[in-house]
Amino acid sequence: MGVRFNFKMAASIPLKLCSPPVYMYSRISLFRACPGRWFSGTGAVQGATPRLVQVEEPPPYTPARLAGRPYLSGSQSAGFPEFLGRARPGFPAMFQPGDTAGGIEEWSAVVKGVIDRELTRSGALLFRGLPVRTDQDFGRLCQGLGYDMMVYKGGAVDRSELTDMVYTAADEPLEMTIDLHTEMSYLPHWPRKLMFCCIKPPGEKYGGETPITDMRSVLRDMDPALLDRLRTRGIRYIRNIADRSRDVWCWQRTFRTEDREEVEKFLAERDFSFQWNSDDSVTYWYVMPATREHPATGETLWFNQATSHHCSYFYQHPNFGGAGRAKFRYPFHTCYGDGEEFRPEEVSHMQQVQWRHAVGFHWRAGDVLVVDNMVTGHGRMGCTPGVSGRKVVVSLTSN
Ligand SMILES: [Fe+2]
Repeated sequence: MGVRFNFKMAASIPLKLCSPPVYMYSRISLFRACPGRWFSGTGAVQGATPRLVQVEEPPPYTPARLAGRPYLSGSQSAGFPEFLGRARPGFPAMFQPGDTAGGIEEWSAVVKGVIDRELTRSGALLFRGLPVRTDQDFGRLCQGLGYDMMVYKGGAVDRSELTDMVYTAADEPLEMTIDLHTEMSYLPHWPRKLMFCCIKPPGEKYGGETPITDMRSVLRDMDPALLDRLRTRGIRYIRNIADRSRDVWCWQRTFRTEDREEVEKFLAERDFSFQWNSDDSVTYWYVMPATREHPATGETLWFNQATSHHCSYFYQHPNFGGAGRAKFRYPFHTCYGDGEEFRPEEVSHMQQVQWRHAVGFHWRAGDVLVVDNMVTGHGRMGCTPGVSGRKVVVSLTSN
C-alpha cells in the first residue's frame, strides 16, 4: 500500500523555501514567515490544497561568456557584453510548491492564478518543483491552464510537435546560440504567452540556458535616432524557404502543408508579396513595425526580430559558414522597410542592447518558465553537442 499524503506529514517535513533559508514546520507558519506571497488553487486532493510560494532569492547562476563566444551572432563586435547577467529578484519571479499536494490538473489551477496576477508585471515566471516529468505531463499542465493554445505555423525556425501542442523549443544545431527575440514578432499574429518546460537539463557546465531579456529596458536604451528611423520606415522581413527536395528546413514544414495553394493563401491573407523560384523554393517579403503596444497595459515595447532575422545570424551558423551568399539568399534577412540595408553598427547596437538586459539561470528538470512574449524576449545559449542531454519543450498561447 502506498504512502498517502496528509497534514500530519506536511507538519513534520522541514521545508526550505525562503530567503534567508528558514525551515518551516507547518503550512500556517509557512504563510506567515515567508516574505514572498503565496497562492493556492481551487482543487483539493486528499483534503489538501496545492500552494505556490514566491521565492525572493533569484535562482543561482554562473554567468555564461558572451563576448567572443563562437556561434553567437555579433559576439565579435567591440562593446559586446562580456557575460550574460544573473537572474535578479522578480526577473524571473520564481515560485515553488508550498506543499506536495496535488496532481497536475490541480497545479494547473494554481499556476494559472499566478500567471493571471503576475505575468504582465514581471514579464517572466519560473515554476520550480512541479510534478512535471514528461512532454505529456507538460501538455496536461498547459491544457489545464485553459488558455487558447496556438499552432506553430509560418514561423522562422524548424520545430517538431512532440505531443498535442507541445513542440521542441528549437531544432537548431545545439552549439548555435539563438539570438534574443520575441516569438513571431515578425508576423501580424503572435503568441501572447510562451511556456517552456525543461524535461532534461543540459548540465550546468554545458550551456543551454534559455536567456530572457527585458524589452521595456531594451526600448529605453535603444539609440533614439535609430529608433526613430525604425519607427518611421518599419522593418522589411525577407524569407527564402527551400523545397523539401533540397533541405529538411523547407516550406512544407514551415507551413505544415504539401499544398502550394495553401501556402499562397496563408501569404495572401497577410498581404505578403511572394514568388516561387525555379528550384521550387519560395521567397516572400513584407514590412512590420519595430514597436507594438501591449494590449493590456498600453505601453510601447520593442517588438521585432530585426537582429535575429538579419542574414548575419547565419555568418556564425554551423550549417552555413560565413558571409558567402547574397544577403537575400539566406533563409531570412531584414532591412529597413524601404529596402535600405541596416549598417553593421546598427545591427551591433540592437544586439548589444538586447543582450545587456538579458539574464540567465540554470535549468532543472521539471522547471516551467512562462514569459509574456511582448514584455520579455528569449533566446538559447549554445551547448556542447553529444554531451549535453538538453531537452526543452514549448507551448504557445494566443491569449
Ligand atoms: Fe523563440
